Amino acid sequence: MEAVLKEKKVVIGITGGIAAYKAAELVSSLMKHGARAKVIMTKNATEFISPLTLETLSGNPVYYDMFSRTSPWEIDHISLAKWADVLAVVPATANIIGKVCHGIADDLLTTTIMATQAQVIFAPAMNTNMYKNPIVQENIEALKKKGYIFVSPAEGRLACGDVGEGKLAAIEDILRAITDYFVRKQDLKGIRVLVTAGPTREYLDPVRFISNPSSGKMGFAIAAACASRGAEVELVTGPVRLSPPEGVNMHPVETALEMYERVMKLYPSCHIVFKSAAVSDYRPQAYHEQKIKKDSDRLVLTLVKNPDILKELGRRKKDQILVGFAAETHNVLENAMKKIREKNLDFILANDVTQSGAGFMGDTNKGDLITRVGEIIEIPLLGKNEFAHRMIDEVLKRSPHLAIRKNC
Ligand SMILES: Cc1cc2nc3c(=O)[nH]c(=O)nc-3n(C[C@H](O)[C@H](O)[C@H](O)COP(=O)(O)O)c2cc1C
Repeated sequence: MEAVLKEKKVVIGITGGIAAYKAAELVSSLMKHGARAKVIMTKNATEFISPLTLETLSGNPVYYDMFSRTSPWEIDHISLAKWADVLAVVPATANIIGKVCHGIADDLLTTTIMATQAQVIFAPAMNTNMYKNPIVQENIEALKKKGYIFVSPAEGRLACGDVGEGKLAAIEDILRAITDYFVRKQDLKGIRVLVTAGPTREYLDPVRFISNPSSGKMGFAIAAACASRGAEVELVTGPVRLSPPEGVNMHPVETALEMYERVMKLYPSCHIVFKSAAVSDYRPQAYHEQKIKKDSDRLVLTLVKNPDILKELGRRKKDQILVGFAAETHNVLENAMKKIREKNLDFILANDVTQSGAGFMGDTNKGDLITRVGEIIEIPLLGKNEFAHRMIDEVLKRSPHLAIRKNC
């Protein structure tokens, strides 16, 4: 990352949200990686964090007044627009997204955005209801179509007390998006990737099912990371509440049997498989066409085994790279090695879901990527997007033969 960001000129736009203070960490990280940073704040942003902090961290004056020119011979919005290699708005309010989307240039930041030819990256942060407001979503979609990059907000407890989507993405994920832009890493170009994500639902009757708390976030992050690196991505997902990643072919399914069918169909044409879905091992033997009534005090359910999708992929494997996932609560490494052998996998990502930060539903993950020969690569606690990139980096490093399979 250091080499990529060295001497890169990054303009950080800070807008008036509670997460404005986190922009200081981003500026500090950029400087540590050798980048040059200049900061533009909206007037409202200065209510949340002092320009002095950003001035000190960036080593440059902070720009926030459209009509106060630092040099009499320069017009700030034009000189900043030209200076920038990339312009990242962190955090981005609903307001600035709406303004840029509709061509409004009424302060220094929006005017600079309008004037720049540099890539603009938005990292939105706002209350969940604001973020989900169809107007905000339409604005985001419209800007994405015009080539603006978005680093999606995370889910969690927000400053206002609400819980949901809208929290500023982890700073490392924003830094990664900036780096990715410079690298334009296309190391998966020509590669077809199959990713499975989310839980499955095993229905007892039309309104009840057995499932698990998988959010699908890890699989979606892997799919998005692969797509950003140029892969053609097929994402087979159980029911989740996530927006489809950019540039990915989505295949929504519900049950393990449906997932099995779809995965087997796509498998032969794919080069790498990341099987991160949390598939139910069992399903009810009987499906009741009508809602089961609570007539008796005891209800005995008989469950039958679902097909083991991963094992079947291992059995049918030709030259694909197969990456399995093992969410364990005990004997993590031992169980993962056993799974690699029994299911003919190339890699397994083992995580102890009892550890904090590595659970089913969070925005972070940590774990060990284990190879067939027993090499253990520790991936530290990271945001799921960054975690996905790290895992892909490690898989690719150990799969040199993948290059010759491209477009086979
Ligand atoms: C305490 C407080 C916190 C706020 N947090 C956010 C936020 O996180 N995201 C957002 O879009 N707006 C937030 N707002 C509203 C914005 O400040 C408001 O829309 C403002 O017009 C944004 O201006 P700007 O985009 O020019 O900075 C907040 C307002 C207050 C008073």
